[in-house]
Amino acid sequence: MRDSLIAITGATGNVGSRVAKLLAARGERQRLIVRDADRAPQLEGAEVSVVSGYAATDELRRAVQGAETVFLIPAHESATRVAEHASAVDAIVAAGVHRLVYLSWVNASPDLVFTFGRHHFATEQHIRASGIPFTFLRMPFYVDVIPSLVGADGIISGPAGDGRVAAVLRDDIAESAVATLLGEGHVGKTYNLTGSEAFTFTEAAKVMSRVSGKSIRFHNETMDEAYASRAKYGAPDWEVDGWVTTYAGVAANELSRVSDDVRILTGREPGSLTRYVETNPDSLAHVVSSPAPE
Ligand SMILES: NC(=O)c1ccc[n+]([C@@H]2O[C@H](COP(=O)([O-])OP(=O)(O)OC[C@H]3O[C@@H](n4cnc5c(N)ncnc54)[C@H](OP(=O)(O)O)[C@@H]3O)[C@@H](O)[C@H]2O)c1
Repeated sequence: MRDSLIAITGATGNVGSRVAKLLAARGERQRLIVRDADRAPQLEGAEVSVVSGYAATDELRRAVQGAETVFLIPAHESATRVAEHASAVDAIVAAGVHRLVYLSWVNASPDLVFTFGRHHFATEQHIRASGIPFTFLRMPFYVDVIPSLVGADGIISGPAGDGRVAAVLRDDIAESAVATLLGEGHVGKTYNLTGSEAFTFTEAAKVMSRVSGKSIRFHNETMDEAYASRAKYGAPDWEVDGWVTTYAGVAANELSRVSDDVRILTGREPGSLTRYVETNPDSLAHVVSSPAPE
């Protein structure tokens, strides 16, 4: 155990709570930054600080005061997400934190097809410009969310074409994050936290069919079909763009690169979609389609 304090934002969420549990298991000093204390993970030795959100710069500055390192989890997607991230970074810098570890997006750039991915580029730029020592952990889609893309009818619908996704487990992100939070030599580094294989949605559907015994397939929508099929939700344009380009970014192979970084950081191979569905059969419980043909 080290003496320095690590602050974890988004500690009520999937990745933040995993990181917090791993740090607690090692007896590390940590402060969980949450929006609702009642939902903070109950962990031995962890302090809890409540902040209303990333936009509350002064609250967050006070909450991270004294931390040597902050792990910044990106905010829920919104029209103001980039400004929220900038506010969070400003707070962390103003508090005198020594290093910021940010959970970013693979290939972060201003012209990504995947519109939500562009938010991560803007945030990385803001972090670089601030001068704070940083580590970027870039993620593609979570393996864990792939089953949730399957409709109750067994169909994954979206304009993803034959693009490939090197999806990664949240568990592997958390373990890699802990390695960079506790280890030396990660300042200024960008890691691509991917799985060990990149699959098309057609291949993902086959894997999920085989493991679950349900009939699951991929329907490659055109962009027009994708916008039309999502219009019924009445969501704002920025959100529908994000949903549709989730798939269009795959078609453009923005998430296809396989990296060794999870293995390098954790010392073991990343988990696969097959293994995830085998060990989490409930992830496809919502699919009511007939059994896959033999
Ligand atoms: N790679 C992927 O496939 C994928 C999929 C979905 C999302 N993501 C992105 O990756 C992030 C982490 O993933 P996850 O699975 O851990 O997400 P998650 O379970 O939704 O957790 C997000 C965490 O961030 C906190 N948060 C969100 N917006 C905030 C804000 N404006 N100010 C302060 N705290 C905020 C949430 O707090 P509350 O509990 O109070 O809401 C929660 O603790 C997500 O937030 C999202 O940006 C990635």
